[in-house]
Amino acid sequence: MYPLRRNRRLRTSEVIRSLVRETIISPNDFLVPIFIVEGKNVKEEIASMPNYFRFSLDLLEKEVKELWDLGLRSVLLFVKVPDNLKDNVGTEALNADGLMQRAIKTVKNAVPEMLVMTDVALDPYSSFGHDGVVADGKILNDDTTAILAEMSLSHANAGADFVAPSDMMDGRIFEIRSLLEDEGFYDTGIMSYSAKYASAFYGPFRDALDSAPGFGDKKTYQMDPANRDEAIRETLMDIDEGADIVMVKPGLCYLDIVRDIKNVVNVPVAVYQVSGEYAMIKAASEKGWLDHDAVMMEQLTAIKRAGANMIASYFAKDAVKLIS
Ligand code: PBG
Repeated sequence: MYPLRRNRRLRTSEVIRSLVRETIISPNDFLVPIFIVEGKNVKEEIASMPNYFRFSLDLLEKEVKELWDLGLRSVLLFVKVPDNLKDNVGTEALNADGLMQRAIKTVKNAVPEMLVMTDVALDPYSSFGHDGVVADGKILNDDTTAILAEMSLSHANAGADFVAPSDMMDGRIFEIRSLLEDEGFYDTGIMSYSAKYASAFYGPFRDALDSAPGFGDKKTYQMDPANRDEAIRETLMDIDEGADIVMVKPGLCYLDIVRDIKNVVNVPVAVYQVSGEYAMIKAASEKGWLDHDAVMMEQLTAIKRAGANMIASYFAKDAVKLIS
């Protein structure tokens, strides 16, 4: 009791604070999302994501080398698909020479040791901008999971280390795992977006990929932000179905969920700090209302403190530059 205990003693200098610090952000914590487009020499800034870009394959090579040099070792690939290649069933997603498949090879060629994770979902390929096959205004579950499994196989064939299904259909982890096993891809991992909420924070990402839903919303498959028990249910099922890594998405508003899940699972937990979270910090700091670097580090630290074993973040480069 006071005065025997004075908690401020452990805060008196930066040295003692560093000694007792419980959470430290390092380059190993990050998955770096990368947006890829067709074309040559393209590096276009995403309007709602300042200082974040879409890259064509030639410039992707340079970008991943830079990431590697910064100590960033894992990338999460997303492709922007031209409108004329979109349809209801994601035909282009299975093209062995599609943009994603070429992107995987490009990264592996440039930096063979880089861990390549790929987004597995229909929305960038869907003429409806939905994560599933559409019929009569509904999203069909089982027709979709069959395609997601084929898509995963195609990514594995192209050299992906991990596939990351971001769709929230039921049973897709089992379908994907089964097909990968049947085809001999025993070491290809699955990072499941297990507790993915129907969030309003995905807006800038949908700008980046031109993937906003053409009708309705995603509430029949993504989770209700009001729910907590359901996140546990979703996550435990994905683990039973074969997920190697589970994920909570978005980040900051869902850190209670991260901790709940961390307390009950024994697989690594990823958190996706999403595009809207990035955009908020960029916008407020551009206005001079927030200190960009301080707020960025505070949020990343909070995500890790809550229980994240890794963080998919658009701040990965900014953060490692700051701490190196
Ligand atoms: C869709 C997908 C989304 C994100 C990743 N994969 C958006 C959505 O569900 O509409 C969002 C990521 C972000 O906002 O940064 N499969």
